Amino acid sequence: MKKKLTRFDLQTMKDEGRKVVWVTAYDYVTAQLAEEAGMDMLLVGDSLGMAVYGYSGTVPVTMEQSIYHTEAVRRAAPNTFVIGDMPFGTYQAGIEEACYNAIRFHKECGVDCVKLEGGVRVAPVISAICDGGMLVMGHVGLTPQSSGAMGGFRAQGRTADSAKAIIEDARAVYEAGAFAVLVEGVPPEVTEIICRELPIPVYGIGGGPCDGQVMICSDILGLFQAFTPKFVKRYGDVAGEYRKVFAAYIDEVRNGVFPGDEHTYKMVDGEVEKLREQWK
Ligand code: KIV
Repeated sequence: MKKKLTRFDLQTMKDEGRKVVWVTAYDYVTAQLAEEAGMDMLLVGDSLGMAVYGYSGTVPVTMEQSIYHTEAVRRAAPNTFVIGDMPFGTYQAGIEEACYNAIRFHKECGVDCVKLEGGVRVAPVISAICDGGMLVMGHVGLTPQSSGAMGGFRAQGRTADSAKAIIEDARAVYEAGAFAVLVEGVPPEVTEIICRELPIPVYGIGGGPCDGQVMICSDILGLFQAFTPKFVKRYGDVAGEYRKVFAAYIDEVRNGVFPGDEHTYKMVDGEVEKLREQWK
């Protein structure tokens, strides 16, 4: 049986140069298949706002929505390291509220850690959650919850000065006690420095090679249709499969092909005649 990784396994994997592979999951079936495939970690990302709820960003996602989806993923993948993603508004208003919400993820969903966005400005929050005995993963670079302030979903750290600020954010997250950091949407040169400077695992999405990669499941499956970021590689065409299946089903029902005999229940012997007699 697959063994769930711990923070120490993840650290060893960095130290030995073994890549960690993870993906987002928002529902039971996807999480079950990801665990079966041998995924190292699962993130119940607030990207569910776009991938599941059809919002234009992650800002509207609530704690309750994240809790529902995280619970389902935890049930589906008991042997995989599961990350709860703290939605916008659940850790910005104060340390006490942030700790309360991190605790909810642990008590109600059984996550292995929580992830939150930001660097220097969220360091006190990270420290407080870690002091509460919980694991925190940082998230720096392109932080979708502040895409408004960043002027949209755009690459960050493309000048030496802005890259320096991201490297300092990553360091602040590490010094606050985060066991790992996710770097999103920055040139690979920036990620490389963070990866070299920090002793903890550094994972990337749109950040080039580092200690491991995460992708949005509906992007790699070829399911999400609204847009495809530059850093996404599609490994399948699940949307195409949906289209084929839906078209075939519509066609068969309309033409009386489905349901066939093989999809119907049989009456108990002798009961068909009785029924017909009663209802003729
Ligand atoms: O919410 C999410 O899916 C994320 C990704 C950027 C990994 O944080």
